[in-house]
Formats: sequence, C-alpha cells, structure tokens
Amino acid sequence: MLRLPQEWFARLRPRYEGKRVCITGGAGFIGGHLVDALLSLGSSITVIDDLSNSTAAHLAGLIDIEPERVRFIHGSILDDAALVQAVEGAERVFHLAAVSSVPRSIADPERSYTVNVTGTMRLAEAARRAGARRIVYSASSSAYGQGERLPKVETDTPAPVSPYAASKLAAEHIMLAWAASYGLSTVSLRYFNIFGPRQPADSPYSAVIAVFARKLLEGKAPIIFGDGGQTRDFTYVSNAVLANLLAGSSERALAGEVVNIGAGARIDLLTLFRKIAEQCGVGHIQPEHQPSRAGDVRHSLADLSRARELIGYEPVVALDVGLAETIAWYKEQWAPEAGGAGARARR
Ligand code: UD1
Repeated sequence: MLRLPQEWFARLRPRYEGKRVCITGGAGFIGGHLVDALLSLGSSITVIDDLSNSTAAHLAGLIDIEPERVRFIHGSILDDAALVQAVEGAERVFHLAAVSSVPRSIADPERSYTVNVTGTMRLAEAARRAGARRIVYSASSSAYGQGERLPKVETDTPAPVSPYAASKLAAEHIMLAWAASYGLSTVSLRYFNIFGPRQPADSPYSAVIAVFARKLLEGKAPIIFGDGGQTRDFTYVSNAVLANLLAGSSERALAGEVVNIGAGARIDLLTLFRKIAEQCGVGHIQPEHQPSRAGDVRHSLADLSRARELIGYEPVVALDVGLAETIAWYKEQWAPEAGGAGARARR
C-alpha cells in the first residue's frame, strides 16, 4: 500500500536497520504509515499514543506479526512516566502526536495548546534526558496563515490564524530552542494537507478528502465550506513518510530548521470534489455549500527548495495516484456492496 520506490528502501535500510526509534502518535494515520515503513526497514519501534483520536487496531496487527520489534505504550505525551519508557534507548524520535484540526482547536483551544505545546516540551525534555540523537517534529503549514504570496517559503513570516496553527508553530520554537539550549538535534517538517488510506473519516473534524470520500460513497452530498475556490497542496502520505525517514537519518547537524513537506502543486476544492465524485462513481452528486469556516486559510502551496537542499526530499507520489489509492481503500471500507469492515459494522 505504501508507495515508496524500492530504490528509496535500498538507500534508507542501512540507516535504520537494527536501530531503535520512538514514534509519538504511532497509532494515528501518518504515524501508522511511518511504523509500517520503519518495520520494513528493520527498525525496532516504540509507539506512544493515548488513542484519543485513533485505535490500536493497525498496531495490534503489527505487534502480532513482530512482537519483538514493536512495543506499544498506551499513554499521553503529557505523562512524564510514560514518556520515559517511550524514549528509552531510542536514537531518533518521530514526534507526530498532536490534537489536529483547525475547527477542533477553535472549539477547544486549551486542549490543542496543552497537548501540542506542553506535550511537545515534555517530549523534548524526555528525549534529551534519554540521550536521543534527533527529534523529527511533525509541524503544520497552517503556521503560514493568510499571506497572499505563493508558494509558501520557510523564510515567510508565520501568521497563524487559528489556535491549532499557533500551537503547531509554538512547538516549532520548542524544537529550535532545545537545539540552541541543549544541543539536541531537531527538525520541523511543515506538512501540507496530508491524505491517504486509513485517514479517519468518521469525525466532524476529519480532513476533507476523507470526509468527501465517505459521504460520496454513502451517496450523500458533501459540504463545501465557502465557494470552493480555496486551494491546498494535498500531499499523499507516502511523501510525508519519506520526509520523516530522510530527516531522521540526515547526516547534517540539524538544529531546529523548518522544512516544508508538500507535493508542490495545488488544487481548488471544487476540482478536487469532482475528481473524488467521479472516482466514487457518483459524478452526478453536487456539493452543498455552507459559509467558510473560521480560521480557514484561502490558499496554500509548498515551496520545496529547502526540503530538496536540506534533506534531499522529493515528492514520490503525485495527487492523482495518491487519490486513486485512497479512494480504492475507502471503497473497500465503506462501499456497502464491497462488504468491507465499515459496511459490515453499519449493518
Ligand atoms: C490544516 C492545515 C494542515 C493540517 C491540518 C490539520 C492549512 C493550509 N493546512 O488543514 O497542514 O495538517 O489543518 O488538521 O492550514 N472543507 C470542506 N468541507 C469539509 C471539510 C473541509 O469544504 O467537509 C474545507 C475546509 O474548509 C478547508 C479545506 O476543505 O478549506 C481543507 O480542510 P481540512 O482538510 O480540514 O484541512 P485544513 O484546515 O486546510
């Protein structure tokens, strides 16, 4: 399922084989794909996750197959004792645990702040004390805010317009400060709208591709907030996984650098909607429009120059290929005639 070209596996294997890593949020959508990749590369993995926005199902399957190489700590990144166990012996820490979603942060800003900022600080402390060599932090393109200039370059002044964006940006600064104060090697990957198989589709805070796919496969009209002219640099999850693997193993002395991770192309929501509707076999369904969401950014597109230069990143899966893969996965889960797990659960 994870579309990483074989040549990448060959290049990355020597850097990860036999190494212990820690993944916070490893039961989640992106974290779970990173676990898959690191297992294939021969690493031993400790996951810490509180399962607040995920389930242990995927991880449990991996633990059944590889009990020696996958360890799961059911705990929060706010819990120092759980963190100590999680980072023990880990050379690299991939920090993906967070309370995601712009609208969720508007409904409950304190929870986003506590987990995303205080949780990141506690994780940085635990990693430093345990002697970890590097933290790779999953940051967010929401940090850029509404600035008109495209593509977004890391030297642009950040201007967060939601509590979520503010919290993700604050945690970038923790990465920078812990590198400067304690010499801990850190790097922040600013993701641009990651999507792919296993992204949750069942919450009011789910990401747009997951929500559109689910609604359309149920034969219902999805909602577009605003006129649908907003654009995003939707990025298939394999690209984010590759970026983590490259950032985690780079020989450069990374010290809090911020790096955009996107696909380097943008699409407006109406065009995206039509693509998904067609792939779901319901090209006749029209979206329903509602007013724009508070905290919504109008346009987003990554400049990838720094990612190329600093960690050798290049997107490996383009939007259309990733969409096809993703819709095929949701079909298997949700289409009633397919008899997938989701369909069975709803019967
Ligand atoms: C933002 C960040 C992204 C981050 C994510 C975490 C930006 C540019 N991106 O994503 O990096 O990972 O938060 O949650 O800030 N929409 C609809 N109908 C729906 C759902 C969403 O029209 O049913 C619209 C939204 O209003 C938005 C777009 O689709 O304009 C994308 O929304 P979503 O998938 O929630 O992600 P962002 O908020 O863009």
